[in-house]
Amino acid sequence: MPCSRLVASLALATFMFCPTLHAEAPRDGDGFVPADAIPDVNLRAQGTPVPRIGRAREDFARHCQGCHGHEGVSVAEVPRLRDRVGWFAHTREGRAYVVQVPNVLQAHLPDDRLAAMLNWVMTSFSAAQLPADFQPFDADEVRGLRTQRLDSVVRRRAEVVDGLVRAGVVDSADVFAFSLAPGRY
Ligand code: HEC
Repeated sequence: MPCSRLVASLALATFMFCPTLHAEAPRDGDGFVPADAIPDVNLRAQGTPVPRIGRAREDFARHCQGCHGHEGVSVAEVPRLRDRVGWFAHTREGRAYVVQVPNVLQAHLPDDRLAAMLNWVMTSFSAAQLPADFQPFDADEVRGLRTQRLDSVVRRRAEVVDGLVRAGVVDSADVFAFSLAPGRY
């Protein structure tokens, strides 16, 4: 192959297979992670713009979404948070339950970040179910509730759901159904 054709082929191959040469330049600043701080090596090499996410969403991603899904919708064995978790905020017991459920109570997060993340969960996944006068969680409330562990999460959940039905917040306990194990919940 003549030298000039070889060079041309190499240039074409480089253009086709090296996306950095023709990808859009990474966008820094507002809303995007700076190009040199993108954690994923491939995205960084390709210059793919990565949106910046807030701390509460990141905390949820690290501590919760493996089970609950990034949109609050999960496998049937884990209760759905989307369009549902806000109902719990209608009673004092329900509000306490969402902090004392084991994976929340034991999350490796300080009280203020846990409070902020729970507020994010409530308002992003389930705003329509929240009471009109919903008071956001704060660090003091979360700290107090975290000192009290549930003897039985299964029993507590049943009591809380029963309380929500009796208070007329939901029509039926079926609203909260999920299938961790047949007959367990
Ligand atoms: C290992 C899987 C797993 C992880 C991780 C997890 N959860 Fe859960 N979550 C569950 C299961 C299962 C339940 C049902 C209650 C129980 O058995 O603990 C639940 C219940 C809940 C509830 C009560 C909803 C209901 O319908 O009973 C809330 C709120 C909740 N989780 C939020 C979170 C948050 C916030 C995090 C992150 C800090 C988190 N969960 C991490 C599996 C998980």
